[in-house]
Amino acid sequence: MGVERIQTLAFSNQLKELPPQFIRPVNERPENTKAVEGVTVPVISLSQPHHHLLVREVAEAASQWGFFLLTNHGISPWLFKLLQEVGEQFFALPQKEKEAYANDPSNGNFEGYGTKMTKNLEEKVEWVDYFFHIMAPSSKVNYDKWPKNPPSYRNFNLYFLKEYNKEMLRLTNEVLELLSEGLELEKKTLKSSLGDEKIELEMKINMYPPCPQPELALGVEPHTDMSALTLLVSNEVSGLQIWKDNKWVAVDYLQNAIFVHIGDQLEILSNGKYKSVLHRSLVNKECKRMSWAVFVVPPHEVVIGPLPPLFNDHDPPKFSIKTYAEYRHCKFNKLPQ
Ligand code: OGA
Ligand code: NI
Repeated sequence: MGVERIQTLAFSNQLKELPPQFIRPVNERPENTKAVEGVTVPVISLSQPHHHLLVREVAEAASQWGFFLLTNHGISPWLFKLLQEVGEQFFALPQKEKEAYANDPSNGNFEGYGTKMTKNLEEKVEWVDYFFHIMAPSSKVNYDKWPKNPPSYRNFNLYFLKEYNKEMLRLTNEVLELLSEGLELEKKTLKSSLGDEKIELEMKINMYPPCPQPELALGVEPHTDMSALTLLVSNEVSGLQIWKDNKWVAVDYLQNAIFVHIGDQLEILSNGKYKSVLHRSLVNKECKRMSWAVFVVPPHEVVIGPLPPLFNDHDPPKFSIKTYAEYRHCKFNKLPQ
């Protein structure tokens, strides 16, 4: 039996009420867990001329929020525009054509078109379809899993996705250097702990169709990313919320800003000095929301644990040491780490 796609369901005319598998338990529903008013997330400009201030801003945001918006990062707005266009064109294809790329996470095949990624104990389904593929390094890319349509998706690999990839790697370097300095470590430490030039980038395009009862559903349920960093952009529809001081804080759309999430691997390497941000996304009654998340991850064989300079007898290691492959296996299967 094929997987029921959210997009198909959302656009079937009769759908006025949310099917039961999407209705969240009462204590998870957006209508009962509204975001706090008047709190805004940190916005950090990479053009801050005073390096030590930039380091401090990044380190504070990473330790207090695990999240910040990055502006003046040097990525041209047209690149975001092209990225959005090809993503939208893919999801606008006939369903049958998209199904040719269907993935199969239960058999370890994550790349391609999908609807559900991790196991969910309550078997509740998230209101999102996605497309997922590895973007870097080129030796790990499976181009045959990438959309043939729009043709620009693969062809643009030579031009625009390649350019986007380059920019994501540049920002990864820059942010990891700032984060290393914020821990009083040598600049290259975090990057080398994550596999250096073997660091991988994964692209996940999230497509959240309009939802008949958004107050009862979630786009993605509360989670932390298992990556080291996640660099995300969205279309102009807001929906992301992050958990801070026991409350949800809504992240408003900010044009051309990159939403930087600290993920689990940086929390572990920093021995908890940086927080892996708990976040979720809400859906919308009228508007389709889309987001493009780039997960910065170590290769599977890299061993990740708290860095020795960051623990001692008084401040012992807070996390176990394991390969990223083991970590990933536990996370996907909701096993203790
Ligand atoms: C994710 C995620 C949030 C968003 O894909 O891991 O958290 O804003 N997405 O789409
Ligand atoms: Ni996430």
